[in-house]
Amino acid sequence: MCGIVGYIGNEEAVPVLLNGLKRLEYRGYDSAGIAVLGQAGLLVRKSKGALPSLEDKIASETGQGGLNAVMGIGHTRWATHGEPSDINSHPHTDVSGKIAVVHNGIIENHAKLKAWLEAHGVVFRSETDTEVVAHLIDFHYNGDLLQAVTEALKRLEGSYALGIICESDPDRIIAVRKESPLVVGAGQGENLIASDVPALLEHTRDVYYLADREIAVLYRDRVEFFNEDGQSLQKEKSHVDWDAEAAEKGGYEHFMLKEINEQPKALTDTLRARLKNEGGTSINLEEIGFDASWAEARRVVIAACGTAWHAGVIGKHAFEYFAQIPADAEIASEYRYRNPLSDPKDIFIIISQSGETADTLAAMRMARKAGARIIAITNVVGSTLAREADLVMYTWAGPEIAVASTKAFTTQLMCVYLIALQFGMLRGVIAKNELTSHIEALEQLSGHATRILSAQENIQRFASRQFNKTKVFFMGRLFDYAVSLESALKLKEVSYTHSEAFAAGELKHGPIALVDTSTLVVAICTQTALFDKMDSNIKEVKARGAAALVITYDGVDYFDKTADEVFRIPRTEDSLTPILSVIPCQLYAYYCAVQRGLDPDKPRNLAKSVTVE
Ligand code: M6R
Repeated sequence: MCGIVGYIGNEEAVPVLLNGLKRLEYRGYDSAGIAVLGQAGLLVRKSKGALPSLEDKIASETGQGGLNAVMGIGHTRWATHGEPSDINSHPHTDVSGKIAVVHNGIIENHAKLKAWLEAHGVVFRSETDTEVVAHLIDFHYNGDLLQAVTEALKRLEGSYALGIICESDPDRIIAVRKESPLVVGAGQGENLIASDVPALLEHTRDVYYLADREIAVLYRDRVEFFNEDGQSLQKEKSHVDWDAEAAEKGGYEHFMLKEINEQPKALTDTLRARLKNEGGTSINLEEIGFDASWAEARRVVIAACGTAWHAGVIGKHAFEYFAQIPADAEIASEYRYRNPLSDPKDIFIIISQSGETADTLAAMRMARKAGARIIAITNVVGSTLAREADLVMYTWAGPEIAVASTKAFTTQLMCVYLIALQFGMLRGVIAKNELTSHIEALEQLSGHATRILSAQENIQRFASRQFNKTKVFFMGRLFDYAVSLESALKLKEVSYTHSEAFAAGELKHGPIALVDTSTLVVAICTQTALFDKMDSNIKEVKARGAAALVITYDGVDYFDKTADEVFRIPRTEDSLTPILSVIPCQLYAYYCAVQRGLDPDKPRNLAKSVTVE
């Protein structure tokens, strides 16, 4: 996720901005830049890569790293629109180079705005959605930057945190946010903005938290606040007591917990980026090159590793269910050494959070050799996977820092569902009205996830009683079995508990021999037609002394008599439940790790990106 800083005061701005950006490095980024206003006017310096390359660029010019300016804005970019490059890095400026903008978020209507601005003669330089903001402000600029910003905001759709400076209005920084974080730091004779508190702590612990659509105007000696219509607002200052490390995690104890809690937003961002509203809401994959020819496939093969493979297993069910097309989910490390019978009419979907997993890339290259067309689902713009695939669908999860994948998984699922539904539409399996209701169900998932997260203390309490269990088995059927696979992996990874996943019907074919009084069985029960089968399976494990936690829908009392504990999730379509039912399991893994005194963010022996075999 991008990082924003802004400074106006009496110190040389460049080191303040670079230092602030360093404090935001934990958010992940691929390029960085600053714009400062000083004696030489508005100067913009930006560079692909880590902060030292920007520092070197500035130092090679000045010798000491300053540009004689006491105000400016800075940015670390996590690429979304357009590859990491000097040109796509922020800040972006208007055509004349007098207005500079840094942005975190997604301008959803950027394509329309770009076309409109181009029709007014604007020539774009970058591939970013952000550049439209700079041109739009310039379009409305009539000597008053605040007014130009409020006018521009009226045209923006999507999410944004923005820092804006203007050469002809040199004594203030304008900042505004909607659905992306931005805090204002109130110092002595200096004021700052930042995406997150750590970037402010060296200067001040007094902050203002901006609400959606609130505008802050920072002068050296004061900060003024306005609503989106330009009316003045009074805001309460808060004092930050956290240390810098806690602040990086947004007040959460660990990145894993932070990322679990970020899922509602990540789901909304991933979904919104792929919907269009033209005579009713529909799925927009044309923008990424997915046309009707893709739906002529003979078969869909999904290849991935680890958590991403679990997303693939759910994808297999989703393709069969929504698009009635044969589908397979392949473990990439196995696939690459088999002699698979693939056909040029197969479509490969390769899923990888990092886009750099060695086995996954090898599977993709094999598919390519066999003549198949390839769709990548990845979280990293410009990754090897993104570059080599025919078509890329990005997850909008933002950087995932904890080794255990959580928000990347649920956003991968969102992508898989969108592709499966679009396949279904193009193949004539899904009628228009059915698609509308599936999309509505997808749109509700973010709110449902928020509700599950609001009850996380229940899982925490359950974990505090059960964390010492030496055997934990997850079981379910169909979509619930796939979630069991992911849940067992999560628990293994972060709490080092021996956990396994079983297709519930397989229990009596062997695994039940392991069940005794030391076993906890988590039964995921969201496939309504199979409730009675699951109930029998739960009774079987209970009869052998196991404790049973059931995860099922709100309002379902089917398992109340059988289970020791029931955790409920909001009702959705049975085929979409994985996005919800996995959340309590992620929380359970997290709280077990914490109860065991382990650091869930850095599990032993594991790496975030497995770039070697
Ligand atoms: O970056 P990728 O999605 O390709 O990574 C695949 C696996 O290495 C990854 O999902 C791994 O299983 C995680 N540690 C799961 O939490």
